Amino acid sequence: MAIQLIGTGSALPKKIVTNKDLEGMMDTSDEWIYTHTGVRERRIAVEETVISLGTDAARAAIEDAGIQPDEIDLVICSTITPDCPVPGCAPNIRRNLGVENAAALDLNANCTGCIYSLAVARGLMETLGFKTALVVGSDVLSRITNWEDRGTCILFGDAAGAFILRRSEAEGVLAVHIAGKSDVDDVLTCDWPAMETPFSGPKKPNNEKIYMDGHKVFSFAVNAFIETLERSLGEAGIPKEELKAIVPHQANFRIIKSTARRLDIPLEKFYMNVDRLGNTSSASVPVALDELARSGRLQSGDLVMLAGFGGGLTYGSALLRWK
Ligand code: COA
Repeated sequence: MAIQLIGTGSALPKKIVTNKDLEGMMDTSDEWIYTHTGVRERRIAVEETVISLGTDAARAAIEDAGIQPDEIDLVICSTITPDCPVPGCAPNIRRNLGVENAAALDLNANCTGCIYSLAVARGLMETLGFKTALVVGSDVLSRITNWEDRGTCILFGDAAGAFILRRSEAEGVLAVHIAGKSDVDDVLTCDWPAMETPFSGPKKPNNEKIYMDGHKVFSFAVNAFIETLERSLGEAGIPKEELKAIVPHQANFRIIKSTARRLDIPLEKFYMNVDRLGNTSSASVPVALDELARSGRLQSGDLVMLAGFGGGLTYGSALLRWK
């Protein structure tokens, strides 16, 4: 059975927070942030939520795909910052779209969430017969960002991206690879608030904000990125030279640059918006894909690689033949 990605969408919060704005909040500089990360500014949700951004991104993807919302029979929302545990973000997005009947689930695979979601959607379409899947990646990382830690808060932003997968005659998803490695050194963590019950007694507060060992995450990211790209290319039997574009997780310009150099792939092939949006976790890859698609740079038949890595530690990639 063949599956194609037939539409993309994205949604951004209105508020822009620049590096200059952060200079007024902490001991940092635009120059340091830009040279160490490639980020100039990020969007921060004020009124927006994971569900509202996710719904807007989904609407844009549905319109781009030229389908009706009720054709969707599977909704996956990748998020690490859900608005609510019950009924979850995907069921709320389904309701906002006016879709009466569709299986809906939230998925947490950190910054690789949308690639994991693509893999899960493809698996469910192949085994359970779903025809049209909506995958949304939506995160409001500003909620769990430690705004007093200048080593991490400068990296993150809020956004949502979405895409539609559909059963098709022609094969559009040529290869998918998802993988993981235990985070034995706790290099990237964030806890729920301490949850007390009448039976537990008082609990010590948890670390409710993102903690990251930047150096260790950096070296994991480059190695994982290279491994997953090679795995997907190998599975499809396609040489890297044939790739038209790579849509990487927008964690840090330097990670992308190191990967490009080590793989000997021209940097121009890597789509980047990290300067405008920073790292938006689940939204990162689908927003970048949407921007690339809408830029008109992709032609039918082009080979596009999506690749991500993140907490967990998770990593993965998907090789697409463009619709
Ligand atoms: N502004 C100014 N100085 C800062 C700063 C900031 N925002 N953040 C850190 N510094 C300082 C440090 O305190 C340190 O000072 P010191 O030498 O006096 O101790 C110096 O800059 C160098 O810090 P370092 O942590 O070595 O910088 P780095 O080049 O490793 O960059 C990251 C830090 C976080 C940008 C980088 O490690 C990174 O991007 N890692 C991967 C993160 C990632 O991708 N995470 C998400 C994965 S999904």
